Amino acid sequence: MKDNPKIPESLYSTWTSTKVTICFLLLISFSYISYSLKYIHPYLCTQQSQSTHFQSQLSIPLYHQNPQIQKPEEPKTNISHIVFGIAASADLWPHRKNYIKLWWRPDQMRGNVWLDQPVKTEPKLDHTLLPKLRISGDTSGFKYRNPKGHHSAIRISRIVSESFRLGMENVRWFVLGDDDTFFVAENLVRVLQKYDHNQFYYVGGSSESHLQNIYFSYNMAYGGGGIAISYPLAKALEKMQDRCIQRYPGLYGSDDRLQACMAEIGVPLTKEKGFHQFDVHGSLFGLLAAHPVASLVSLHHLDVVEPIFPNMDRIHALERLKVPMQLDSAGLVQQSICYDINRSWTVSVSWGYAVQIFRGISSAREMELPARTFLNWYKKADHTAYPFNTRPVHRHRCQEPFVYYLSNAIYNTSTNQTVTEYVLYQTEKSECNWKMANPSRIHKIHVHKTPDPHLWDKSPRRNCCRILRPNSKKQKDTMVIEVGVCHEDEVVEVW
Ligand SMILES: *[C@@H]1O[C@H](CO)[C@@H](O)[C@H](O)[C@H]1NC(C)=O
Ligand SMILES: *[C@@H]1O[C@H](CO)[C@@H](O)[C@H](O)[C@H]1NC(C)=O
Ligand SMILES: *[C@@H]1O[C@H](CO)[C@@H](O)[C@H](O)[C@H]1NC(C)=O
Ligand SMILES: *[C@@H]1O[C@H](CO)[C@@H](O)[C@H](O)[C@H]1NC(C)=O
Repeated sequence: MKDNPKIPESLYSTWTSTKVTICFLLLISFSYISYSLKYIHPYLCTQQSQSTHFQSQLSIPLYHQNPQIQKPEEPKTNISHIVFGIAASADLWPHRKNYIKLWWRPDQMRGNVWLDQPVKTEPKLDHTLLPKLRISGDTSGFKYRNPKGHHSAIRISRIVSESFRLGMENVRWFVLGDDDTFFVAENLVRVLQKYDHNQFYYVGGSSESHLQNIYFSYNMAYGGGGIAISYPLAKALEKMQDRCIQRYPGLYGSDDRLQACMAEIGVPLTKEKGFHQFDVHGSLFGLLAAHPVASLVSLHHLDVVEPIFPNMDRIHALERLKVPMQLDSAGLVQQSICYDINRSWTVSVSWGYAVQIFRGISSAREMELPARTFLNWYKKADHTAYPFNTRPVHRHRCQEPFVYYLSNAIYNTSTNQTVTEYVLYQTEKSECNWKMANPSRIHKIHVHKTPDPHLWDKSPRRNCCRILRPNSKKQKDTMVIEVGVCHEDEVVEVW
């Protein structure tokens, strides 16, 4: 290991004096803002801390310091404030509509599916389980010159404007997605609650492929992962989008066209790590087992990747994920890492999805990286083509993970805790000569966790897990784990 490079002391002092200068300049400019506004919100005034001289003198309304904080008098954003715009096509509709049914709640959600042409009359039940179907406006007058793409990109790009023109009331956000996007609605609401819907916001995520991001843009929200556009921004966009689209006939898709218009308006992408385009092939396991410390908002490319649980089809696999989602959506697929010290095992929990046991003690910095169970979107691209760090599935054959997939989830009303059960997925394992207990003797894992709907109201931090002592000899094949907020001074360490 190399020594940490020493930072010369002079650098520190330069930085400190720069900081003082910046603070001074900020002080002047904030004073000017609050003076010229002549408006200080009473609620915020009483909330102002009197602890420092600076703060009590400044009296800056909080939301001018941080535009992400909503004005306190407005009710919090909830699902009714969102209008979904789902891009679909008639030919894939009979199959893709089943993905929408998985997450759509007709009694609570508002939105439309935008199709290229009418679809055959659906069975009556369908009508009540899906958003309203609409046919997109005619786009034959728009130029499209990308040799690889499809003209329908223009139609799909205009969904946000067409949704706006419906003139629906009490709309704060338009959320765009594909017919193969699965939204975790509660978490979408949680993310949007952080932002002031009265301002211009363009929220979404990048691709998992560095090359895709270079080819399209790192500044672009990928449509399949979901794009949230605040109402006033949609209003501004609607006025210019048709002209804007005509300026970019060479672009490939709908989302790069949208980004081109955002660039003209001057609104950057607000990146949120829970929107998943999933431009990968193979198994999402590695990505879902080490999710970033951010709430899971969407899953996409459901037809491209393998089902998220083995031995079942894609729809049933997502249905399984819905059970823990309904019990504790904020905690869904959140990772926690702990050690079984007696047996020298590392345990990684992805709550509501899977648990892994590894022989040996691996550090948190290793375990928080997604294992490359997936392949790059560009099949020839190796691991240097992901815009985030990954790790191999195992570095030594003894460290092959023992994977336990969710099999059951309940809420125990006498303890107010969820109990999720995970069962070992039996696979061929390499021979291992390490002298330590073999995890294969554990067939089942029970995870106890108190639902924590306010998890994301706090600064992001991984939950902690603890291996509990089995309460009887009979349970030798079952490991019991507790997951929750970390105790004071609790960190992932062994020695
Ligand atoms: C959502 O907020 C509105 C206020 O804007 C309120 O009237 C409505 O009851 C809320 N809906 C839900 C489902 O909480
Ligand atoms: C709920 O918890 C109590 C107390 O630990 C336990 O006795 C009971 O068996 C649990 N119920 C279920 C359904 O797991
Ligand atoms: C469970 O929740 C209920 C309602 O919030 C509360 O009255 C009860 O004391 C809780 N029980 C435990 C064991 O925490
Ligand atoms: C580990 O071993 C110690 C000493 O034998 C025992 O007290 C403890 O309960 C064990 N821990 C677990 C999680 O089994």
